[in-house]
Amino acid sequence: MVCASLLFLHFILLWPLTSSSSSTSSPTPPSLTKRGCREKCGNLSIPYPFGIGDSSCYKQPAHELVCDDSSNPPVLLLGQGSNIPILNISLSGQMTITLWVAYDCYTRLGVPYDRFNQRITLSKLLTFSDTRNKFTAIGCDTRAFMSDPKGDVFHSGCVSLCGNPVNVVDGSCSGIGCCQTAIPKGLRTLNIDLSSYYNHTKSWDFNPCSYAFLADPEQFKFSVSDLLNFTNNNGLSFRSRSSVPLVLDWVVGVETCEEAMRRTNYACGENSQCSNSTNGPGYRCYCKQGYQGNPYFSQGCEDIDECLDPDLNSCEGLCTNIPGSYICSCPHGTLDDGEKDGFRCIPSPVQFSFLRFALGTGLGLLFILIVGSWIYWILRKRNIIRLKEKFFKQNGGLLLQQQLLMRERAIEASKIFSAEELKKASNNYAEDRVLGRGGYGTVYKGILPDNKIVAIKKSKVIDETQIEQFINEVVILSQINHKNVVKLLGCCLETEVPLLVYEFITNGTLFEHIHDEGHVSSISWGNRLRIAAETAGALAYLHSAASPPIIHRDVKSTNILLDKDQRAKVSDFGASRLVPLDQTQLSTLVQGTLGYLDPEYFLTSQLTDKSDVYSFGVVLLELLTGKQPISFERPQVERNLAMYFVLSMKENRLSEILEHRVLQEASMEQLQKVADLAKSCLRLNGEERPAMKEVAMELDSLTKFTKRPWVAQSSKETDKLLGELLNSRNGSIVEYQSMTDYLELSLDTGR
Ligand SMILES: *[C@@H]1O[C@H](CO)[C@@H](O)[C@H](O)[C@H]1NC(C)=O
Ligand SMILES: *[C@@H]1O[C@H](CO)[C@@H](O)[C@H](O)[C@H]1NC(C)=O
Ligand SMILES: *[C@@H]1O[C@H](CO)[C@@H](O)[C@H](O)[C@H]1NC(C)=O
Ligand SMILES: *[C@@H]1O[C@H](CO)[C@@H](O)[C@H](O)[C@H]1NC(C)=O
Ligand SMILES: *[C@@H]1O[C@H](CO)[C@@H](O)[C@H](O)[C@H]1NC(C)=O
Repeated sequence: MVCASLLFLHFILLWPLTSSSSSTSSPTPPSLTKRGCREKCGNLSIPYPFGIGDSSCYKQPAHELVCDDSSNPPVLLLGQGSNIPILNISLSGQMTITLWVAYDCYTRLGVPYDRFNQRITLSKLLTFSDTRNKFTAIGCDTRAFMSDPKGDVFHSGCVSLCGNPVNVVDGSCSGIGCCQTAIPKGLRTLNIDLSSYYNHTKSWDFNPCSYAFLADPEQFKFSVSDLLNFTNNNGLSFRSRSSVPLVLDWVVGVETCEEAMRRTNYACGENSQCSNSTNGPGYRCYCKQGYQGNPYFSQGCEDIDECLDPDLNSCEGLCTNIPGSYICSCPHGTLDDGEKDGFRCIPSPVQFSFLRFALGTGLGLLFILIVGSWIYWILRKRNIIRLKEKFFKQNGGLLLQQQLLMRERAIEASKIFSAEELKKASNNYAEDRVLGRGGYGTVYKGILPDNKIVAIKKSKVIDETQIEQFINEVVILSQINHKNVVKLLGCCLETEVPLLVYEFITNGTLFEHIHDEGHVSSISWGNRLRIAAETAGALAYLHSAASPPIIHRDVKSTNILLDKDQRAKVSDFGASRLVPLDQTQLSTLVQGTLGYLDPEYFLTSQLTDKSDVYSFGVVLLELLTGKQPISFERPQVERNLAMYFVLSMKENRLSEILEHRVLQEASMEQLQKVADLAKSCLRLNGEERPAMKEVAMELDSLTKFTKRPWVAQSSKETDKLLGELLNSRNGSIVEYQSMTDYLELSLDTGR
């Protein structure tokens, strides 16, 4: 780790230094013309804010230039129709133009025969450079004046008189044959007046004309021959007249910098600075130190990579370019000699600098911290995943997966929920979400993200046998699709205790509706009959329609849920067991609920579908009598409802144990048949009980009977009818004897 961080550190320290190259090849300078505009006229390149052509190519109309392509080479002209050629134009704020020379010529006899007085006013962005130009006059009988346009601000000029050309010296403009004077600042108008003392009569032989002009002394050199015939045409052959080069200062705008900065058309771009003109009003832009390019572009100036050009940097060791400047540093193992002038690298006596050490340690620790927390996070995540996997296995996830794989139909039906999903749905298993508790665990009300309400069954304990039971229920329920069986939506195996997710049945259990104080007599006989028929139908479906057949094993009124329309939904298949196709009996551990338990199954441990028929019979009794299957509050003989019912029928006292509401609402015919059916379901010998399918059919047909309210019947008539009914069946004494045994047994185990 430490080694890695040192390497990392080394990389950080050396990377920027090694990346700079010492190549000396200079790149092509960036174009100074606006993109998409003509860059050159002849040899001259045109820098923005000046431009040729489209108005987007120059900044202001005064910056427009014209290229006369008809002459050879093409000539750049100052403005539309000005006929003033430009010799040079630079971003530093100056341009060289040529202007015609003013002249005044005479004949030998002193008669003036040709003169030209120069009068020109520049655009407001241009001024005659006061530093670069001199007012110059040539002649030996010459008075030259220049003035402001109206001639009331200033007059300036020089006089040159000479008797013979002998004293005139080439290249010197000192008053003999040629005189010069400085010009004021801010001059934009040139008014030249030439006059003579003697009409050149005294000097005509060697000087017939006077000449005057503004010129850049650097570019105009006086020669003696100019006195006789001044023909300086500057190589611009299309001009018949003489012209001289002079320098103009240009500005990009006439405001001061401060004024311009407040305007939207402020001309200076990025990395540039503004400067007032020193020659009249206006401002110009310059690239900042270390930058190059055209400051008038909106993107402005670009950084100069000084390291590419050895003339631009004074580094002896390594050079690093930074915006606007560069940094010199010494290669690994050397140090700056510490001298003020220059930058020289000498081998370092100590390889270990404190700064580097501190930096390295800091970065190293940071690196360790980052990697450490990253690893911690990964491990934690992995741990959670492992725990979830463990639970998944422990909860029979593998078993379930196997089972589900075996029954492809189930896969589409049920879903595997994540632990988080259900935790959120049940509001972290809040106490106010508890729908019910039992030996199996707790049922919570849950609300899924799509607002679907579900019941989440959270198992209590997990030992191997219960897991099997749990998986059993998942597998069985996932195969079943019956309107009277509670639908399993999915399960979650990632948690410590397995979770099952069911459709939410709103209206409680049948048990509550029959026996709870609040629900006394809440169900009409018609509904009772229908609930019985629906339950029977569901059980019949489990027994016969499903493949392999399913024995519920725990049919009771608390396992029959009612929805808002009081439709029956058979639930809790925890104890169910699939019956292999080749077997009709299963030898299992006896399971069931006291009062509903099939005595034959209890005694023999042989489970058949007829055990469900017995339990269903007890449910039928509950519906008929409104009494609980077992109650220790009742006298000894009445404790077991099934036994008491059979006894009552035997003794023709059926009407005594039927619930009052039932007696009122049901027809005698129906009651006879239902009681009869219940009795047959409760036969001790399983084989003698009807199949669930038959029970369901019988109940179905009973529900279709037109209801005849049984109000006017006297109890005597009832007894008589019931007597007939019971006498027609011959119940056996043995049955009751066994029943007593069973009751005692079951009570013993129940305690
Ligand atoms: C202009 O370009 C021509 C060739 O196109 C060249 O001969 C001449 O020297 C150049 N003049 C200047 C001032 O660069
Ligand atoms: C234009 O001026 C620049 C410097 O200001 C100079 O280097 C260049 O040679 C000049 N070109 C001409 C054609 O005068
Ligand atoms: C010079 O010429 C002007 C105009 O023709 C004339 O009036 C003047 O007299 C002349 N001067 C001399 C000294 O010849
Ligand atoms: C001056 O010289 C040019 C040629 O160099 C010639 O064409 C012109 O006629 C001369 N002018 C005078 C007044 O002699
Ligand atoms: C430009 O000129 C104005 C007025 O003369 C002055 O106030 C300002 O400081 C100058 N700005 C710069 C950048 O020189």
